[in-house]
Amino acid sequence: MSDTHNKASSGFTHEKVETNNFLMIVLILVVIAMGGLVEIVPLFFQKSTTQAVDGVKPYTAVQLMGRDVYVREGCYNCHSQMIRPFHAETLRYGHYSVAGEYVYDHPFQWGSKRTGPDLHRVGGKYSDEWHRIHLNNPRDVVPESNMPSYPWLEKNVIDPSIAAPRMRALRMVGVPYTDEEIQGAAEQVKGKTEMDALVAYLQVMGRALK
Ligand code: HEC
Repeated sequence: MSDTHNKASSGFTHEKVETNNFLMIVLILVVIAMGGLVEIVPLFFQKSTTQAVDGVKPYTAVQLMGRDVYVREGCYNCHSQMIRPFHAETLRYGHYSVAGEYVYDHPFQWGSKRTGPDLHRVGGKYSDEWHRIHLNNPRDVVPESNMPSYPWLEKNVIDPSIAAPRMRALRMVGVPYTDEEIQGAAEQVKGKTEMDALVAYLQVMGRALK
């Protein structure tokens, strides 16, 4: 470390970076940010991630209220909504999930744990009546089930005034609700129970690529 060391330490050198914690941290962050930007920014401009696939529509007021119930009850803690492109998955659940199916989901409900099965293509798999019985007490239709019961959903009536503000908020992040849809939301939701709404939501899930 004699001559070469001395020469290297004149001007801006690696040694300066390696002996200065602050500079090192800043430069590491710059390098990581580059990698992140290159991967993330294009996603905001790709049609496959920003445009809905054919058949995917914004949730109706009732479905949207059901989605809120889904989130509130923590269904995502046991159920994913993301079918991976593997044979075992597509055999069991149907077509794998694609990005264009989630463009109206704010926030998405991909989940990361499957105590129960994936629900992304559960729409149309069972009748509304099956879902009602199942949510009320899963053991009535699946004796070995360890899913919790949700008996209060049938009794709770949804407050119709909460639908329109929810839809307006979603419009701000890009969901194309029309003024008429937002104005008619309260009327649609009126008198519906949380059970009605949740079942409506479950029944529309994943229908586009079925
Ligand atoms: C503690 C984990 C757990 C939670 C929380 C949970 N589930 Fe389940 N769920 C399961 C299990 C396990 C099964 C499989 C047995 C059965 O069908 O009951 C299941 C099955 C289902 C099925 C049938 C899926 C199919 O393809 O057969 C639906 C629909 C469902 N759950 C919806 C819900 C909804 C909606 C919620 C929230 C209100 C919820 N689950 C909360 C564990 C859970």
